[in-house]
Amino acid sequence: MPKKTQRILVTGGAGFIGSHLCERMLRDGHDVLCVDNYFTGSRSNIAHLIGDPSFEVLRHDVTFPLYVEADRIFNLACPASPVHYQYDPVQTTKTSVHGAINMLGLAKRLRARILQASTSEVYGDPVEHPQREGYWGNVNPIGPRACYDEGKRCAETLFFDYHRQHGLEIKVARIFNTYGPRMRPDDGRVVSNFVVQALAGQPITVYGDGQQTRSFCYVDDLVDGLARFMATPAAEPGPLNLGNPSEFTMLELAETVLRLTGSRSRLSFAPLPADDPRQRRPEIGKARELLDGWAPVTPLEDGLERTIAYFRLTLGHGPARSIIAMPAASAPPEIAAALRRVGGGPAPAATGTTDPAEPIQRTSA
Ligand SMILES: NC(=O)c1ccc[n+]([C@@H]2O[C@H](COP(=O)([O-])OP(=O)(O)OC[C@H]3O[C@@H](n4cnc5c(N)ncnc54)[C@H](O)[C@@H]3O)[C@@H](O)[C@H]2O)c1
Repeated sequence: MPKKTQRILVTGGAGFIGSHLCERMLRDGHDVLCVDNYFTGSRSNIAHLIGDPSFEVLRHDVTFPLYVEADRIFNLACPASPVHYQYDPVQTTKTSVHGAINMLGLAKRLRARILQASTSEVYGDPVEHPQREGYWGNVNPIGPRACYDEGKRCAETLFFDYHRQHGLEIKVARIFNTYGPRMRPDDGRVVSNFVVQALAGQPITVYGDGQQTRSFCYVDDLVDGLARFMATPAAEPGPLNLGNPSEFTMLELAETVLRLTGSRSRLSFAPLPADDPRQRRPEIGKARELLDGWAPVTPLEDGLERTIAYFRLTLGHGPARSIIAMPAASAPPEIAAALRRVGGGPAPAATGTTDPAEPIQRTSA
């Protein structure tokens, strides 16, 4: 039986993960409404989707109520990197909390199923390792990261209260570090930092002694997990860890990036930021079981190759050999387009950075 077309609302749809999710939903045959205020997202992330009759975009801030039609809501709107979420911390909390209230209110009116993009940050600096969903976390409620961590924790509370109180169908996904094309070069996250610094020939900044670990999930694997989770029976609200359990130290990541970019950058060590967790690794047994054996399938080197190719293209750092080597079928659309343009020759000249959108005025009053 052919799959039924659903109306899918993706908040934060012009962001890094959101734009890949919009693509995936369109590929699955759905109608997609992308809602974004372009704080950290960009029109260029979704430019290739404009013109698709199944795709619509609405500029809107989720801290204000929204009245649209949808069968399924993916709530991703929220800046995700410390530099961006600490820029206006009050607005960050409002985006998580008021945004959740507004989207849950919409879901309740429409009787729509709603998925929350929560985060491994709800575990804070964990004293249990790896982190299982039953672990309640170790978050500093008054530190500089609290606007994000506590905002996301409160959003989870709201989701479960709407579920218990109003019978709403919810899905709470706890996303661990995800990387891939369309990350912003200025987001301060470790993968984009290392790649951008390596491509520019600048020193690679390693915080602390570089022995702290992270697990990195390629964006396609994460989006597949989100799509599968949304389709699970109503009786499965989560929370559900989605991420890649393979763990790497920051030094290992730096060495891999240096090798894949061919960069001769040196390492430069800086003090650890406040409340930076030493270890972070998801336990994904529950996801494997619930999502029919789902697990990340993209090896770190392959994902890094594609990410490096993207940054070479968008930052214009020399001939993009790795883009040209990439099979067009597996390339993200903007890279596939560049492949068609270059026809096997050198990559096009610099196209500037990623965001043509005007920065939105942020008021936290
Ligand atoms: N990338 C990761 O590693 C990661 C890890 C854990 C959780 N998450 C969660 O996944 C979601 C997407 O993250 P991302 O990495 O794609 O980040 P991103 O910053 O690229 O995307 C967030 C999007 O939300 C939009 N946005 C922010 N505030 C908004 C508002 N008030 N109203 C409307 N739109 C708004 C931004 O413009 C952007 O397009 C976020 O909720 C984030 O917390 C991401």
